[in-house]
Amino acid sequence: MAGLFPSTLIESTLINVVTSATLEAMNTTFIDVPPGLKGVAVADTMLGSVRGAEGFYHYRNHDAVELARTQSVTDIWHLLLDGSLPADEIASARFAREVGSGRVVDIDPVIVDAVAAATQAPHLALMSLLPLVAPEGRATTELDDGERRAMASRLAAVVPTLLAATHRRRQGLDVVAPDPDRGHAEDWVRMALGHDVDPDRVAMVEAYLSATIDHGFNASTFATRVVTSTGADVAAAMCAGVGALSGPLHGGAPALALSMIDEIGDPTQTEAWVTARLEAGHKIMGFGHAVYRADDPRSLLLRGVAERHGGELVERAIDIEERILAVMRAWKPDAVIVTNVEFYAGIVLHLAGLTPDLFTSTFTVSRVIGWAAHLVEQAANNKILRPSARYVGPEPTKGAAMVS
Ligand code: COA
Repeated sequence: MAGLFPSTLIESTLINVVTSATLEAMNTTFIDVPPGLKGVAVADTMLGSVRGAEGFYHYRNHDAVELARTQSVTDIWHLLLDGSLPADEIASARFAREVGSGRVVDIDPVIVDAVAAATQAPHLALMSLLPLVAPEGRATTELDDGERRAMASRLAAVVPTLLAATHRRRQGLDVVAPDPDRGHAEDWVRMALGHDVDPDRVAMVEAYLSATIDHGFNASTFATRVVTSTGADVAAAMCAGVGALSGPLHGGAPALALSMIDEIGDPTQTEAWVTARLEAGHKIMGFGHAVYRADDPRSLLLRGVAERHGGELVERAIDIEERILAVMRAWKPDAVIVTNVEFYAGIVLHLAGLTPDLFTSTFTVSRVIGWAAHLVEQAANNKILRPSARYVGPEPTKGAAMVS
């Protein structure tokens, strides 16, 4: 593993973590890595990976898309956190009940109101509210495995409750209490919208949540692991994930992708619209991916979900998607531009009845489960993640004390 340091990167050849001994042997202070850390493996993980060239990703040793088609969110949660799918229906129900109980929380409504009023979106409110659910703030690295697992899973479970409460209070609506007996996807939608949703729509949200729980070392997972590696408490590590996810290049994309379809309107306007955006230096939301060099399997999954639902919006979206891809591929002929998960995520969540201001929150409901598993893994075998930056400013002047 140590010592591999290829001058040219190909997707299947990762630059691996090197040991301090190797660094010394190389007699150099820095190892230069590609911009954006592309292709740099900074940890070993048992949780899963993304094989960009194959258009494939997996949770542990299971095909993630297959799981999203066949398993509940909580069964996949069990797989990531505890290493295997529940052994039988009894184990599945027991874990779902553990998660359901974890959704229940008692926070002063005055605090929820104040935070809801002061933040721009429900998912951002999490950065204030999550630490209140785990106020003791014990260092993640000081907890034993069982305590870490319990704390991380508990905080992941409470996320939909906090998101729904802040979403509703921002609109002056009553908070809907969690129902531990319901499925995680169903309860999230019910708490957020304030009413039951038909099973077909719940299934759409469940498929979305299941498909987006984990996805390699994406920015928010990496951020969570960096903060975990400092020994910070579980809530602090998860808040780091929330912050990273909130950016438009990560979890903020689905609402923007849906509004793009709205703005384009008639598919024949696509070419003009996209060209103008590209020429102005804007990103086209829902397209491109840092790792996929073949179709993003999550996009194919969600496109299938949308197609099964059908309707004018879906037909228009498919037409627009194909036109956007043609423009972008002509614009960057040397790059591989694919439709990413966010393009159909916006459509599927909209068809399920969720409003765009809940899209990033819905992504947070799923991805926090992945963060929980990564946090436990990082803390169990911790080494502080502390890279370097190459200074490129003017030569610093050393003070007199240093010179003498
Ligand atoms: N709009 C405009 N340009 C894009 C693009 C997009 N959607 N996707 C890729 N590109 C450009 C990149 O900026 C890069 O240009 P450069 O060579 O001038 O630097 C080139 O195409 C190749 O990009 P690539 O290396 O394949 O991807 P990346 O790692 O630079 O970017 C994203 C990955 C996700 C940040 C990028 O595709 C993006 O911003 N997409 C839109 C936001 C989005 O949908 N995010 C959700 C991701 S799941």
